[in-house]
Amino acid sequence: MTTDVPKTAIVTGITGQDGSYLAELLLDQGYEVHGLIRRASSFNTERIDHLYQDPHERDVKLTLHYGDLTDASQMARLIRQVAPDEIYNLAAQSHVAVSFDQPEYTGNVTGIGVVRLLEAIRETGVETRLYQAGTSELFGDSPPPQGPTTAFRPRSPYAAAKLYAHWVVDNYREGYGMFAVNGILFNHESPRRGPTFVTRKVTRAVARIIAGLEQVVYLGNLDAERDWGHARDYVRAMWMMLQRDEPRDFVIGTGEAHTIRDLCRVAFGRVGLEWEPFVRVDPRYFRPVEVERLRADPSAANDELGWRPQTTFEELIAEMVDADLADHGLTIDQARERAATVTVAAQ
Ligand code: NAP
Ligand code: GDD
Repeated sequence: MTTDVPKTAIVTGITGQDGSYLAELLLDQGYEVHGLIRRASSFNTERIDHLYQDPHERDVKLTLHYGDLTDASQMARLIRQVAPDEIYNLAAQSHVAVSFDQPEYTGNVTGIGVVRLLEAIRETGVETRLYQAGTSELFGDSPPPQGPTTAFRPRSPYAAAKLYAHWVVDNYREGYGMFAVNGILFNHESPRRGPTFVTRKVTRAVARIIAGLEQVVYLGNLDAERDWGHARDYVRAMWMMLQRDEPRDFVIGTGEAHTIRDLCRVAFGRVGLEWEPFVRVDPRYFRPVEVERLRADPSAANDELGWRPQTTFEELIAEMVDADLADHGLTIDQARERAATVTVAAQ
């Protein structure tokens, strides 16, 4: 995948899981990338440190700018200054469970944040294309498979905020002729996934149990089903959506679903352990309202966008477990040897 003319892109949420993979993809293609980062009291750029370039060097391709989706004036300034060909809005309060604790903040960042961006684009008059990070959470309790014509039935403040963002993007596309699209992405994971999302929580626990640092992991609803893919594959879909002649929303997923139990079986199985003795249910991880079953109908993405995932569920979880083991200086072979000596905590 290469582009003929180097382009410029702004990526909000560049310090997140998807932002880091997307920045890699864009830089690989010769883009000049401008990332929006939040000021924090400690460094928060771990996922993109390998891409960082000293601004004093010549021909710098990655530049970071302080900003926040709650600060409209900074976004307008940045868009005017950079005049990007493409904007990827990945920034969000992205944790569904946290959105029940912080509903107002989630609405402000995850919902209204995109309006601030759209208005900044309109006011500056910069010709650009916008990708909005939509979510399968929009489908809520609509039964699977969920595709382009499935009803939205959001079941969390996060999903409600993303629903607002979704319609506003479609509205600005129609009303103002903007090239603005929603990617409705099902769950996607990687070794860079935040440690409080369930896949990473489990793969990290496997490594910590093998390293002797923990004996059990506490989880919530084990029956939920998710359609999990690899983030690296999904950022490719984001990019492909902005290269089309006509703006259009797409549903992106694998079409395969697994329960949290399946996830535990595959993750613990990677090191040769049965999962049941190491997993306990703690109701504190139940959500006030749950989305039980998500599985994509990705046929339009396959046929019309030409996108297909390249990583299987088993490959994804193996990559995550191996990366978490490596954080403890362990190879998969060493982990399998150690597994035989792991003690099971009394119930
Ligand atoms: P993530 O790892 O949680 O990253 C979120 C990013 O947003 C981080 O860079 C974070 O900055 C930034 N951010 C949070 N609040 C902000 C604010 N007020 N202003 C500016 N930046 C802010 O999420 P992800 O998994 O990469 O997901 C990327 C996007 O896709 C999100 O919008 C998410 O809702 C959506 N999505 C994700 C999935 C998935 O399965 N991963 C599926 C569908 C949709 P800090 O690093 O400073 O916290
Ligand atoms: N986080 C978490 N922690 N989830 C748990 C746990 C636990 O201990 N135990 C069970 N689960 C269940 C949740 O109840 C949910 O049904 C499922 O595991 C997945 O939870 P998360 O990994 O937190 O992801 P999510 O599906 O709620 O949200 C993610 O995917 C969305 C797309 O469908 C996030 O990345 C969202 O930003 C994204 O929009």
